[in-house]
Amino acid sequence: MLKKICFALLALSITASGALVATQASAQEGAQVSDAATFKDFGEKAGLVKIMDDFMAGLLKDPRTKSSFENVDQQRVKEQLVDQICAILKGPCEYKGGKMGQVHRELGINRENFNALVEQLQFAMDKNNVPFSSQNKLLAVLAPMHRVIVTQ
Ligand code: HEM
Repeated sequence: MLKKICFALLALSITASGALVATQASAQEGAQVSDAATFKDFGEKAGLVKIMDDFMAGLLKDPRTKSSFENVDQQRVKEQLVDQICAILKGPCEYKGGKMGQVHRELGINRENFNALVEQLQFAMDKNNVPFSSQNKLLAVLAPMHRVIVTQ
């Protein structure tokens, strides 16, 4: 049920657009969850490595995301995601990759691609027994990034 509500919220936020968006999106760089305990629910950094492995495997199987990821350096993307999510969860990591808008600008990503990626992340978190409440804390930080990632 919680999961359904979360999906509904994401779908809603993805329809948002307008002038306010640019300000909100830039404010998202560096956003974090409010408590440090969530990081433990993800199994800390080693847990995130496992989750990102499962996540990438799902992205490569899903017809809505496969073509985006099959020809990129998947190991690099996974490592960057581990650092990015670890930092979001207030773990001892620093994200040194590109800004979300710049990285995704030329990729022609649409809402279906974005929603599919969120779904694959949820599958990977479920598989690794991350509690729903902690999943939702991460998703709440990631969801607004659609404003700079979805360009079509
Ligand atoms: C909240 C959602 C997303 C987050 C947090 C995210 C995060 C990232 C990160 C951290 C990187 C690595 C950046 C770097 O190497 O400096 C990356 C790269 C990439 N992302 Fe995303 N991403 C998201 C959504 C998407 C979606 C929806 C797609 C397409 C279905 C996508 C496709 C890619 C691709 C293809 C790359 C590799 C680009 C390259 O190496 O040339 N991303 N993403």
